[in-house]
Amino acid sequence: MCGIVGAVAQRNITPILVEGLKRLEYRGYDSCGVALHVDGKLQRSRSTSRVADLETQIQQTALSGFTGIAHTRWATHGAPSSSNAHPHFSRDRIALVHNGIIENHEELRAELQAAGYVFESQTDTEVIAHLVDHLYTGDLFETVQQAVKRLTGAYAIAVFCRDEPHRVVGARQGSPLIVGVGQGENFLASDAMALAGTTDQIIYLEEGDVVDLQLQRCWIVDVNGKAVQREVRTVHAHTGAAELGPYRHYMQKEIFEQPRAIGDTLEGVTGIMPELFGDKAFNIFKQIDSVLILACGTSYYAGLTAKYWIESIAKVTVNVEIASEYRYRDSVPNPNSLVVTISQSGETADTLAALKHARAQGMQHTLTICNVATSAMVRECELSYITRAGVEVGVASTKAFTTQLAALFLLALALAQTKGRLSDEQEAEHIKALRHLPVAISAVLALEPQIIAWAEEFARKENALFLGRGLHYPIALEGALKLKEISYIHAEAYPAGELKHGPLALVTKEMPVVTVAPKDALIEKLKSNMQEVRARGGELYVFADADSRIAPSEGVHVIRLPEHYGQLSPILHVVPLQLLAYHTALARGTDVDKPRNLAKSVTVE
Ligand code: G6P
Repeated sequence: MCGIVGAVAQRNITPILVEGLKRLEYRGYDSCGVALHVDGKLQRSRSTSRVADLETQIQQTALSGFTGIAHTRWATHGAPSSSNAHPHFSRDRIALVHNGIIENHEELRAELQAAGYVFESQTDTEVIAHLVDHLYTGDLFETVQQAVKRLTGAYAIAVFCRDEPHRVVGARQGSPLIVGVGQGENFLASDAMALAGTTDQIIYLEEGDVVDLQLQRCWIVDVNGKAVQREVRTVHAHTGAAELGPYRHYMQKEIFEQPRAIGDTLEGVTGIMPELFGDKAFNIFKQIDSVLILACGTSYYAGLTAKYWIESIAKVTVNVEIASEYRYRDSVPNPNSLVVTISQSGETADTLAALKHARAQGMQHTLTICNVATSAMVRECELSYITRAGVEVGVASTKAFTTQLAALFLLALALAQTKGRLSDEQEAEHIKALRHLPVAISAVLALEPQIIAWAEEFARKENALFLGRGLHYPIALEGALKLKEISYIHAEAYPAGELKHGPLALVTKEMPVVTVAPKDALIEKLKSNMQEVRARGGELYVFADADSRIAPSEGVHVIRLPEHYGQLSPILHVVPLQLLAYHTALARGTDVDKPRNLAKSVTVE
């Protein structure tokens, strides 16, 4: 989703801006642009194509300058068109880029139109550009501080003015913005990764901050206009993600990285102890009597899986809520609940807002399972566990999901231990199983050729059903999500016991039914559900395991995972579903890493 880069320097900054946009591309966007201060004027270049196209335009027009801003846009207000692409100008004096959503844009638009401003776009962003121009006092920093007081909603902005050539001003509220501190030059970005290779000295701006960037000055005021010092951190933003190696897509690379990602996430875990989640974890785990999990998308399905683990292993009640629902729902707060957010990016707007909502309701104990150590989510939570999946580029989450599961399993064990419900033998067994996961996943990845054969059949279908029971119901949900988001095949998941309450009506020989069928306590029940499908002519595609005792027969295709893996089986069983989605999408020729209409980091609600 939208990305920002800005710079004020004594050298041509176009390569820095373009490189920054390229590093933010993976988040998903549909147009991009750059604006520079050139010989006392504002100049810009915008594209509804890729950043590479923008780069060609910049080269062809020899656009260069020392002060400027750049943006990748993921359309919310107004279609992805050149005139809606950022940067937006006001009266050829103000240039501005924005991430987020301005909720009072209609009211401001009417006011600014009455003051004579002519709008060129349908965006909510253009109102901010005109507002800044309207309030301009000759001092951009001061003006932006006044302007943001009029905004309702979420924003991170970067703005510069024709009349102040060596200055870029930034502000944030509800959307992330960071400062990159250089020597005689300063930068702004929505993510430290955008500045990798330019500077590793990063300041994370806080809610309500406004920053004045000049060549030798980086001055920050807080929400009350008071000057504040924010810590400068050395951040080694990952740059390695750009290498595809032998893979065709990042998604494929990331699926195959899972043994390494899980190994790294569990590195150093030789025993279970609450302190894995932070120094205060023991006392907090002792006090809490329930867990409330908040997340979106794939992370939400990790949360659903964790509910089964935590309730069965630690005997602690768990509620799992979709963050965008929870944040607006009248719920009954329990101050003794541990609020757990799960997020790959640590930036998802709804999850952050749900966390704040939970705190505002009096729930002070917060923990996050997150893949980005420097993210807002980690900074806002009391406790954390950092998964070490590494940068995930593919929009469809894979290695982030399995590493989240590994961390959540540890959480179930740590809670059980604190509550006196984990014996030393059980601990030792679980640790052994966790440590063996990388090898077990590698064996599942070796099933790829069989899955490719299935994918060729799936590529010709328009619908698919996924079934699972118990611990594997969330895995069926995740499998259906993977298939729909990248292959555009309509896919739904059901707990298999629900089949006869509706979805069975959809089953014909045209409906492939994927069944997640490891040998667990519910396998015999699941087999009955499979019979119900067969009796209606449905084709079954079964992911069994070494112990499931399901034989292939007419209309029943079986791929057997090499090991039965007990409670950790969801971590193995999701892998063939990821591969099935990937190869089906490949066969259908879709843009696997950047599926239509979707973004990697959803920083607006
Ligand atoms: C987007 C991504 C998903 C991800 C979800 C939640 O929809 O495409 O892959 O699961 O956001 O993101 P988070 O970063 O909070 O895990």
